[in-house]
Amino acid sequence: TGGITTIDPGYKNTGSCQSAITFLDGEKGILRYRGYSIEELAEKADFLETAYLLIFGELPTKEQLAKFDSDIKSESHVDEDMKKILDGFPKSAHPMGVLSALTSALIAFNPSTVNVDSEEEMYNAIVKLLAKFPVLAAWAMRKKKSQPLDYGDNSLGYVENFHKMMFSKPNEAYTVDKEIIAAIDKLLILHADHEQNCSTSTVRIVGSSHAGLFASISAGISALWGPLHGGANQAVIEMLEAIKNDGGDTKKYMAKAKDKQDPFRLMGFGHRVYKNFDPRAKIIKVAADEVLGQLGIQDPVLDIAKGLEKEALEDPYFVDRKLYPNVDFYSGIIYRALDIPVEMFTVMFALGRLPGWIAQWREMRLNKEPIGRPRQVYTGENLRAFKEVSER
Ligand code: SDX
Repeated sequence: TGGITTIDPGYKNTGSCQSAITFLDGEKGILRYRGYSIEELAEKADFLETAYLLIFGELPTKEQLAKFDSDIKSESHVDEDMKKILDGFPKSAHPMGVLSALTSALIAFNPSTVNVDSEEEMYNAIVKLLAKFPVLAAWAMRKKKSQPLDYGDNSLGYVENFHKMMFSKPNEAYTVDKEIIAAIDKLLILHADHEQNCSTSTVRIVGSSHAGLFASISAGISALWGPLHGGANQAVIEMLEAIKNDGGDTKKYMAKAKDKQDPFRLMGFGHRVYKNFDPRAKIIKVAADEVLGQLGIQDPVLDIAKGLEKEALEDPYFVDRKLYPNVDFYSGIIYRALDIPVEMFTVMFALGRLPGWIAQWREMRLNKEPIGRPRQVYTGENLRAFKEVSER
């Protein structure tokens, strides 16, 4: 067994690193980025300054933020040949697969981002990725909707420019309600980091081989895609739609979620760390009411979600297992109200989590962490001699 006698499936009780970026208290439902509460940042910060805070450790001064913004804008072009890779995908391709592939393909057009040892080289790779990632994310949606690509407008803010690249119409002037940009900005802040979750651990372990930032983030996107992780926000809406189309019978789905023979899980519920309310879910639930109210949208799916939450919070199966709504439970309801297609929900999560992934990758590299290489408890065959095929 190589000296290892116990294993920790899913690393439920394993600390993988020391980090100064994000603090979580699962019992109390506390989440802080570099010591600032998520509640304050969601109210008072914007996404770009939150990205700066996560990556560099301090809220930026006006000058620092202006330089960060202009450095990013100067890198917002994406090589024209990248379109050939996008064109190669069928329209049916899932945007997360497109985004992961295009992020990896970016390396070929930005070779200086691979072997980065100095902080300056890391900074250059970081601003390139922060600039080009929203372009690729928007391209994934344009592909899905068979629309011509939009190259953005550097006179707009980071989030508004992303929204324009997603929603501009070829023959119309682009306009958008400020509330919509504010809602997306808040959602991206709430998704920005979450210590050593599955996709961040993926970014760290791929980055620990010095494969480079873009390769590490491409791997993180793939990990986030799974329905047990970021993919849950798409699965939640699909579940709520199924309940609505099934006459709104939440009891039937609660029973399915509790039936051990049934693989169905109540998507958007439960969390490895939070054994109390996910603080992000609380903020997003309030924001969902606000955004739908501002847009004058009555979405029956929101009422079903609230009904499901109420039932679960009173159900011993869920209460005993401390299963509460998590970040993915209400976010899709806002994305839907903003006309974001359901297959793009996890792309929205990936854009939000990008600064957190980058911050964690940078910390891992600056701390000169060793390559990730866990051991195992061997349970296979003992030594045995080869047999010729005639003897098998
Ligand atoms: C995210 O880690 C992070 O921080 C992730 C994230 C981030 O910001 O990066 O917060 C984002 O991924 C949020 C989680 C989104 N996923 C879902 O909503 C999918 C549904 N949730 C579950 O699959 C589950 O709760 C997990 C994956 C979130 C957590 O899984 P764990 O910690 O491995 O817990 P478990 O599967 O061992 O479950 C413990 C018990 C089991 O029952 P028993 O075997 O004890 O009888 O709770 C049950 C599970 O069957 N359970 C559920 C359930 N979640 C757990 N039963 C029904 N519905 C659920 N959703």
